Amino acid sequence: MTDSIRILMCAPDHYDVDYVINPWMEGNVHKSSRDRAVEQWKKLYKVLNNLAVVDLVQPQKGWPDMVFTANAGLILGDQAVLSRFHHPERQGEEPHFKKWFADNDFTVHELPEDLPFEGAGDALLDREGRWLWAGYGFRSELDSHPYLAQWLDIEVLSLRLIDDRFYHLDTCFCPLTGGYLLYYPGAFDSYSNHLIERRIPPEKRIAIEEADAINFACNTVNVGQTVVMNKASDSLKLRLGDKGFRVLETPLTEFLKAGGAAKCLTLRINEPVLEDVHANKPLESRIIHLEGHLLDAGTMNQALDMIVDNGGSFKVLNFNLGTERQSVSAADVRVSAPSMEVMEEIMNQLIDLGAVASEEEVCDAHTEICELAGVAPDDFYVTTIYPTEVRVNGEWVLVRNQRMDGAIVVTQTTAGTIAQCKLLRDLAKSDRVVVGVEGIRIIRKAEAREKRGGEEFSFMGAGVSSERRVELVVEQIAWELRQIRDRGGKVIVTAGPVVIHTGGAQHLAQLIRHGYIHGLLGGNAIAVHDIEQALMGTSLGVDMQKGIPVRGGHRHHLKVINTVRRYGSIAGTVDAGVISQGVMYECVQNNVPFVLAGSIRDDGPLPDTEMDLIKAQAEYAQLLEGTDMILMLSTMLHSIGVGNMTPGGVKMVCVDINPAVVTKLSDRGSVESVGVVTDVGLFLSLLIQQLERLTSPYEVV
Ligand code: ARG
Repeated sequence: MTDSIRILMCAPDHYDVDYVINPWMEGNVHKSSRDRAVEQWKKLYKVLNNLAVVDLVQPQKGWPDMVFTANAGLILGDQAVLSRFHHPERQGEEPHFKKWFADNDFTVHELPEDLPFEGAGDALLDREGRWLWAGYGFRSELDSHPYLAQWLDIEVLSLRLIDDRFYHLDTCFCPLTGGYLLYYPGAFDSYSNHLIERRIPPEKRIAIEEADAINFACNTVNVGQTVVMNKASDSLKLRLGDKGFRVLETPLTEFLKAGGAAKCLTLRINEPVLEDVHANKPLESRIIHLEGHLLDAGTMNQALDMIVDNGGSFKVLNFNLGTERQSVSAADVRVSAPSMEVMEEIMNQLIDLGAVASEEEVCDAHTEICELAGVAPDDFYVTTIYPTEVRVNGEWVLVRNQRMDGAIVVTQTTAGTIAQCKLLRDLAKSDRVVVGVEGIRIIRKAEAREKRGGEEFSFMGAGVSSERRVELVVEQIAWELRQIRDRGGKVIVTAGPVVIHTGGAQHLAQLIRHGYIHGLLGGNAIAVHDIEQALMGTSLGVDMQKGIPVRGGHRHHLKVINTVRRYGSIAGTVDAGVISQGVMYECVQNNVPFVLAGSIRDDGPLPDTEMDLIKAQAEYAQLLEGTDMILMLSTMLHSIGVGNMTPGGVKMVCVDINPAVVTKLSDRGSVESVGVVTDVGLFLSLLIQQLERLTSPYEVV
């Protein structure tokens, strides 16, 4: 059979590294020797001419990369798909290859403009002819794959390249006779590796190491049992030998400088068509609609980047740019993905960005019945903090009890359809749970922009706030606290023990005393340290006035716990007149409810600390209901807990000396969040000062 194989090559008459369009070319511009290139090419030609029939295409001046005929196009039977080069540097090769294909009686297919595909460099037939492997990610676009499937009537398996050194599929992947595959797994994303492993049984996979990969060992010309390549390590030669392959090495170092080797320098032009092989449905595709301040708010960028980052591709079908500052934009985008799994991941994230299915494609949400109490169906939709609607019987129904990390349960009642968020543990057997990504939309209001004026809250995105900015933001928070108090609103504080260690207790106590705070959430520690300070003047044994450890101070907090235990509760201790100042004292005196959630490291604990975490979570959620604003003061643990149960729209102020904590918490994608990177004691003292400035001289803070 081998004598019937035909290969197209192009002599290196005009070959050089003239520009940089892949990492191999960097630092190599005009560094390759023409003489050596010619010599190496001739040697390859000779080797191949012994194994197959080699045809030649006329080299063209000004198109140095034309030697890499693998990129001319893709051939199957008498059909040729002409390449559409990604880089202008190579686009001039197209007409020459087109002419060669036409002159040699191929039917030439041309892709739409702006849809790059780089031929057999990125598309390799399984050597048994069962399917076509097609690469994307650098040079070829995923959306070109359905065209290949259609024109060549063959199943296309899309593989995503992620390492720019292996920018073409043939630099890291080579199907061999007998269903073997020589490849470098590191060049592919995990989904593609999974796809490869599903198609090729382990005994047929020859996965190579990076050291061989960078010598272009995968860039191999395979004719029968012979493999021709630039270079292979001894161990690779042995492995290939074991599988029955004869390795012929022929140095192609001059071409490596342009990012190509043996396989790149060839195009197989007589690929046989198998009768019983046909195309499948090659790509998943959906049309979504986006609306809002798509450019100003960066939504469009985010959406498109996200699609590509997840291994999908897109085509913007139309984009209506809002012309005035306040007008919104709208876009329809066709999203494609290599598989249903990838599509679902992309759609999930697009839904979070507020995307909805196009009108033609919108359908009801899919649901599945819970088979086990407390366990959702596998593919359940995970909720976010944003107001969400699900489509049931053609109607959009608003989801109740919105919170993140829940499932949506749909119930039919006589009054109509009810949809609500439920935590996994609260799911009952036979609850109807929303699964997949159909019929779900998130309402992300565009007006948030006008309401906040954008500016004052945007700085925290950068993470660190400068001193002046801290002052400005504290002024703003003071003003809001004042507004909320005056209109009878609700502010909840979640605080860590650092508030006490940094001397913030007196300020927080003052806020509570003057009616600014309507609930306190924290752990055992904040209460213990606050009471320690109230009773003994120390916090974790450190004198709060002098800032030095007190002799025997490390026992103080246990003594405090013991005292409170004697009186049965914090309130009992206050009532007995034992505690007469501090944060917990003010809570008790002013009827401000608090919940203390326990943890594994708690000493004691205080009788008030709830060690049943499920109960503690429920009590937190209850106290948070109807909250307008949450002050998160130096506690990552409790702040994240609180954030998880709070719907979008509630303003959160997160104060921590550690920028990472602030970023983590404010990264809820909501304009409502403010992060302040500063010492919490200092923050509270500034806040009190600002509140005093807002107050007329006749009132108290
Ligand atoms: N310099 C060429 C480019 O970057 C090299 C092409 C190598 N060809 C291949 N099939 N991998 O396009």
